[in-house]
Amino acid sequence: MPLHSKYKRYVWELPVRLNHWVNVLCIVALSVTGFFIGNPVSFGQSASDFTMGWIRFIHFTAAYMFAISVICRVVWAFIGNEYSGWRAFFPLITAEGREKTVKMLRYYMFMDKEVPETVGHNPLATSAYVVLFGLYSLIILTGFALYAQHAPGSPMFRLLGFMYSIFSNQGMRLMHHASMWMVFGFIINHIYSAVLFDLKEHGAEISSMVSGYKFTVKKEK
Ligand code: HEM
Ligand code: HEM
Repeated sequence: MPLHSKYKRYVWELPVRLNHWVNVLCIVALSVTGFFIGNPVSFGQSASDFTMGWIRFIHFTAAYMFAISVICRVVWAFIGNEYSGWRAFFPLITAEGREKTVKMLRYYMFMDKEVPETVGHNPLATSAYVVLFGLYSLIILTGFALYAQHAPGSPMFRLLGFMYSIFSNQGMRLMHHASMWMVFGFIINHIYSAVLFDLKEHGAEISSMVSGYKFTVKKEK
């Protein structure tokens, strides 16, 4: 069906789009600097060698931005439109959501050829997003618990002290590092799905995260 015979809908509000791309930028900066922290390029042998200092500075600046951005998205889940609200992330709580999930599963399992149209989030994608937000929480908590070690006794250290009853010092680093690889696993699948749905639905899936608009066969209620 040509794009001009479809209905144009405003789906992603500006805060959702901004949040998406700020998170992407932060994750790229955090991963690149994180690799260097885990495998340092220099050990500050002279007073003028501050390479790792700058790398850590970028990591911590991006970390604060990322944590604030994730909190903002959680708040937006309670004030945003129906497509970005928290209910969209738990499709199984409504009969309509359950029906959509079954249809989507059938498509992914090659049982149906026609791709079911989704106006907001794909119900299977939202389940992946819930897991992703769990990983975000883990990466933020372990990251700040490690960061707080520079000032034992500080309010941040006291607040996150419970993390050290769950993980050892090295266990904390391992969890922080391993969750990055799990986020990479999500990203590979996520970009594949975004391209797949862009091609199959002809609804401007990818550009919708820039413009906010999608094109759908069904008219808005
Ligand atoms: C997507 C988000 C993030 C990614 C991908 C990431 C990645 C990494 C990686 C790969 C390391 C090296 C770990 C190792 O092998 O020892 C690291 C270290 C570190 N990260 Fe992150 N990080 C993220 C978020 C954060 C956040 C939110 C904080 C909070 C301040 C943080 C604080 C730290 C600290 C303090 C270290 C150094 C640990 C040490 O001194 O050994 N990170 N990060
Ligand atoms: C670090 C990499 C990425 C992460 C962690 C990520 C994460 C997410 C998350 C959490 C959402 C849900 C948005 C919300 O409701 O707040 C989303 C939606 C979306 N993302 Fe990404 N994204 C990444 C990269 C990309 C890239 C490179 C593209 C483009 C090819 C893309 C395209 C989309 C689209 C089209 C949606 C809306 C689709 C839907 O869920 O129905 N993302 N992404």
